[in-house]
Amino acid sequence: MREWTREEKYRYLKDPQELKELYDRISKSGYRQTFHNQAVTGLMNDPNGFVWHDNRWHLFYQWCPWGAVHGLKHWYHIISKDLVTWKNLGVCLLPDQEDGYDNKGVYSGSAMPIDDKIYLYYTGNHRDADWTRHAYTCLARLGNDGWPEKYPLPLFGANPDYTEHQRDPKIIKIPGSDTYYMIIGAQTKDKRGCALIYSSEDLQHGWTFLGEMKVPGFESFGDMWECPSVEHIGGRDVLLLCPQHLTIPGRGQSQNHNGYIIGNMDWETLTFTPDGQFHVLDFGFDSYAAACANNLQDADKAILIAWMGVPDVSYPTDEEDWAGCLTLPRELTVRGRRLIQQPLPELKKLRDEKLPFEANEAGCFALPRAAEVELDCRKGDVNMYMFTDEAGKGGLSICYSEERKEITVDRSGMQIRFNEKEGESRTRPLENGLSHLRIFVDSSSIEIFVNDGDAVFTSRIFPTEAERFFRIEGDTFNRMWTLKRAVKEQFLI
Ligand code: FRU
Repeated sequence: MREWTREEKYRYLKDPQELKELYDRISKSGYRQTFHNQAVTGLMNDPNGFVWHDNRWHLFYQWCPWGAVHGLKHWYHIISKDLVTWKNLGVCLLPDQEDGYDNKGVYSGSAMPIDDKIYLYYTGNHRDADWTRHAYTCLARLGNDGWPEKYPLPLFGANPDYTEHQRDPKIIKIPGSDTYYMIIGAQTKDKRGCALIYSSEDLQHGWTFLGEMKVPGFESFGDMWECPSVEHIGGRDVLLLCPQHLTIPGRGQSQNHNGYIIGNMDWETLTFTPDGQFHVLDFGFDSYAAACANNLQDADKAILIAWMGVPDVSYPTDEEDWAGCLTLPRELTVRGRRLIQQPLPELKKLRDEKLPFEANEAGCFALPRAAEVELDCRKGDVNMYMFTDEAGKGGLSICYSEERKEITVDRSGMQIRFNEKEGESRTRPLENGLSHLRIFVDSSSIEIFVNDGDAVFTSRIFPTEAERFFRIEGDTFNRMWTLKRAVKEQFLI
């Protein structure tokens, strides 16, 4: 694995042409995605500033141009009219050099429009010459020409009662109220993860610290909460968060999790009262920093996109100098004490050719590089093997056991294995059995929606040339489509 010096990781981008050669090489990779957003070069991580404005969706993501390394982060801007096809607009927020408040990275944040402008809230990751970290909550205004104007001073610096780990401002507007809230992920001095709440009547000024969010029962839950947010969905409040440095049964040695707690948020007392436990948002291997869009027309709706990756691990394409992509957008609803995540209905537009199921001698079907496979499951066990070889061997298995009433996804059969320490198999109980599977396959990912969004397994996979088949065992009715390209591969910085 390549070792990066600090200078290499935090090099400022001066001329886009510096990246051209890198892009030309990366764009030839067989693992480049076709209907998922990915970085032009280097590494992408969290989705940022997801917002509806002026009849289109704006989305940004954390981007380090130089390679598969968490170095100097920028915000890269993409837009879409339907959340299916996307257009790259290029880099939007760049770190200010030398003494800037964000001199070592424009970290994650969110967006909110007023009138014809979008306000972008982000964490300025500042490092002094001796590498001491300071976090600033900063603001930039995006004009109609697509260019951001950064405010010269931050809205506020780090709260001295907490450690310097304070980041990821999420702006929240409560319908019917004039107050805006901002939630920031933080760490207490005795190393407990928490969320801080600020408020303002005016998006640009007067942000005041209200206090730490109280979440009874979760006072000691990981040592840092990244990307926290409270979303109002179907009359309930949902606290989304990424607690770090704790292990969760069934998730190997993974230290970073993205999950949610359903409950009720009282903004007066800053108390989120849980109604149930912490649930993992995604049962797959690669999903983190999920963000919900702001300013939806339908205030009771929620749309979520996550980073299809996790911190602190390496991916096979690191050697090609790029890593990371975003998940498909999911519509969220609450059913009982669970969050339901369904692929957006608009994604059906991606369907191209409907393919017949013609099996080879080993009972396997050819698996296109970009495909959707849908199964209605009647009863009994269902075993699916994706990315097998021509003889049906190996691959990623999706197995439902009727006796145990649980579904297990296991990627240990793939020829290219990675992050084994975080576990290669994940199981989710299905109390009511398995009735439906909807699976999206791209060049290097698989997203499995179980029972109409009751559970999701999102994973990166890196199939070899031989791993292009799949087979199904069980009493099922199956459909399959090839999917169209939705994101253009282009060199645009
Ligand atoms: C989450 C995160 C955020 C931070 C950003 C930096 O993946 O660590 O907390 O703002 O990534 O890229």
